[in-house]
Amino acid sequence: MLAGKRILLIIGGGIAAFKALDLIRRLREDGAQVTPVLTSAGEQFVTPLSVSALAAQKVYRDLFDLNDEAEMGHIELSRAADLVVVAPATADLMAKMAQGLANDLASTLLLATDKKVLLAPAMNVRMWQHAATQRNVATLTGDGILFVGPDEGQMACGEFGPGRMAEPMAIVAAVRTALATGPLKGKHILITSGPTHEPIDPVRYIANRSSGAQGSAIARALLALGAKVTFVTGPVVAALPDGAQIVQVETAAQMHAAVMDALPADAAVFAAAVADWRVVSASDSKIKKDGKGKLPVLEFAENPDILSEVSHLAAARPGLVVGFAAETDDVIANATAKRARKGCDWMLANDVSPETGIMGGSENAVTLLSADGYETWPRMKKDAVAQKLALRIAAELADPKTVLV
Ligand code: CTP
Repeated sequence: MLAGKRILLIIGGGIAAFKALDLIRRLREDGAQVTPVLTSAGEQFVTPLSVSALAAQKVYRDLFDLNDEAEMGHIELSRAADLVVVAPATADLMAKMAQGLANDLASTLLLATDKKVLLAPAMNVRMWQHAATQRNVATLTGDGILFVGPDEGQMACGEFGPGRMAEPMAIVAAVRTALATGPLKGKHILITSGPTHEPIDPVRYIANRSSGAQGSAIARALLALGAKVTFVTGPVVAALPDGAQIVQVETAAQMHAAVMDALPADAAVFAAAVADWRVVSASDSKIKKDGKGKLPVLEFAENPDILSEVSHLAAARPGLVVGFAAETDDVIANATAKRARKGCDWMLANDVSPETGIMGGSENAVTLLSADGYETWPRMKKDAVAQKLALRIAAELADPKTVLV
């Protein structure tokens, strides 16, 4: 997806610099050419040799390296790229950028470039949360600088919180989004996928047979058209879509929270098979047989209906909301009623009776219901359903609307 794209990768100083080595590998696997720049602080964490070996390119280090100036000046170096990526972006480098300082090669390149710049910050949680850093983030965001991360989690310094550098694949995803050229460029699409697991106790849960295959295929098809995709998924075996912002959840309540967090979006596709009910008071310890044949009784509560809630949002409703109706009987009638009840724009109805082999299988046969009526698509591979749906979504979000495909 990044074939032929040239990335100028500035590696700042921080323990996360070791992840930049993997990032180089991932970017190159995706077809990009990586020109690395290593700051003197970055050199304390990774060696120029390993960086240039992985990039298969010379590593640029010093502003006053005359050889470099003879080969390629810093202005040219900063402009020969399609995108400038800084990973890890330290608090110091971000402060220099916000101030417009240019006192070493990295900061000079960042000031001289006419290309988009994507930062993957990495620093101690207190440094990230400091008012000065947050002021710099706001300044840089206002200047059009793009950010990926930081993630929240355990840090190398032993503290916990936001500050960890985004994982290499998340950075690759952000690079793809920044360089996207398809009809969905600039559009944010939210997808739910997979089953949810509703715990009974620490070892048992209620689940369903959804594999997540259709949701992943839709994500890939939308990414291929240039969309920025947030993919909220329950526990699945199907491969997750590279390039999407992945949010892994377990329960319907967590999926609900993750979806609300990911808004606003231009469109949302609800492909998840969300459990309708959860066990009211899941046990903290494993429920044991009492030895006298007394059976446990589970009490259920209804889960939030995420699709319905998002469809009925007043302010943050995505422009296009798409649901799936998994039915075993009276597919069209049930799906028509479900579309009206849930308030979504489109409903993709499918027959999930066991004899169709659709749930957990590689093919799907769907009927698309909208305000204009319904049309039945021939049975095809889930990938093909996803591509057809992605083109439809692109046509719907296009301005002005294009002819439906
Ligand atoms: N859905 C959701 N949140 C729920 C239940 C369902 O977002 N708690 C979404 C699904 O992702 C799907 C659509 O609603 O897009 C329909 O799901 P389905 O299971 O077919 O419908 P239910 O509401 O569960 O209705 P029923 O089980 O009665 O058929």
